[in-house]
Amino acid sequence: MKTSLNLLVLSGDGIGPEVVDAALELLQYICEQEELDLNLTEDLLGGAAYDKYGTFCRDQTVETAKQADALVVGSVGGPKWDSLDIAGPPETKDGLMRLRKELNTFAGLRPCKCYTPLIQHTPYKDHIVKNTDIMVLRELCSGMFFGYPRGIDELADGSFQGYDANYYTSTEIERFARIGFELAQQRRGKLISMDKSNVTESGVLWRRVVNQIGADEYPQIELIHQYADNALYQMTMNPKAFDVVLADNLLGDLASDLAGTMAGSLGMLPSACLSTLNPDEDTLAGIYEPVHGSAPDIAGQGIANPMGMILSIAMMLQYTFKRPDLAEEIESAVVRTIDAGVTTPDLNGRSTTKQATQRIIAEYKQL
Ligand code: IPM
Ligand code: MG
Repeated sequence: MKTSLNLLVLSGDGIGPEVVDAALELLQYICEQEELDLNLTEDLLGGAAYDKYGTFCRDQTVETAKQADALVVGSVGGPKWDSLDIAGPPETKDGLMRLRKELNTFAGLRPCKCYTPLIQHTPYKDHIVKNTDIMVLRELCSGMFFGYPRGIDELADGSFQGYDANYYTSTEIERFARIGFELAQQRRGKLISMDKSNVTESGVLWRRVVNQIGADEYPQIELIHQYADNALYQMTMNPKAFDVVLADNLLGDLASDLAGTMAGSLGMLPSACLSTLNPDEDTLAGIYEPVHGSAPDIAGQGIANPMGMILSIAMMLQYTFKRPDLAEEIESAVVRTIDAGVTTPDLNGRSTTKQATQRIIAEYKQL
């Protein structure tokens, strides 16, 4: 177990810096308590980097990222940069996409729990959503987001054709599926893999490879295949039937936002982008970021929900620093804060980011 935490902090845009500050305040306290060395290096990412350097993610940032133990990312993007017509691959259009690719963090862990006091903020009935606990596992380094060919071509009649390719190699599916089975093993032993094998070739290969890995290596895990459209429908109708959800880059992007409806607010959801569940000295940094975006409408007001970012820090302690005990304590402090009704306006609460954070820290101290 490491006793020093070397983190690259990329607060990003919009509410990113606000939630990152909140989470680091808690982390600072934890590190003092646990006698862990906290070394923070800060850099710009996303629109903030673009405004200063003309790129969403500099080469130098990538180099620093490769030396770090973990990356703490707030959120990137906003209307100011949305309309920029930037040529090139997705990595040049989005700083986060570049970092995921450069650090090979192909496994996007996006857990979603429904804490009981927050049910009223979900669009679901109590008995449907109560105690929902889903791990959406999203592939992050391939598929439609990175596939070639892609482009917008002008046709002979003067109209245009836009196209993208959804590429997956069997190697990419295998390594990703193994993480899904491992997570299922650590949880409730059930893996639901979604694909569109009824209409896509990449989906056919996806299903075939996931099946093979399941049969050969994880026969004890209950493996269910669902067409993605039906999987999302089932997830909405009966979320408790889901444990680990295995999805490609595009489908996982959809599934993880849908899962947000079960948490009461997208602001609750944490995520980890990893290349392995068992990092060692040579493993490149994992990226820890909340699922929510930069929320430009509320940026600078001090009312962003810090919980998604704070729970992402918990995931960092669990996965990169192998301290599941600390992760559990952070989650307990968050739950107690919710139970006490200290929440931000996205959950109809009246607390500011700072007040919610102070309460979480106070609850943590009392554990
Ligand atoms: C997410 C976001 C990103 C993605 C965007 C900002 C590129 O929606 O992390 O889910 O789709 O990967
Ligand atoms: Mg998304």
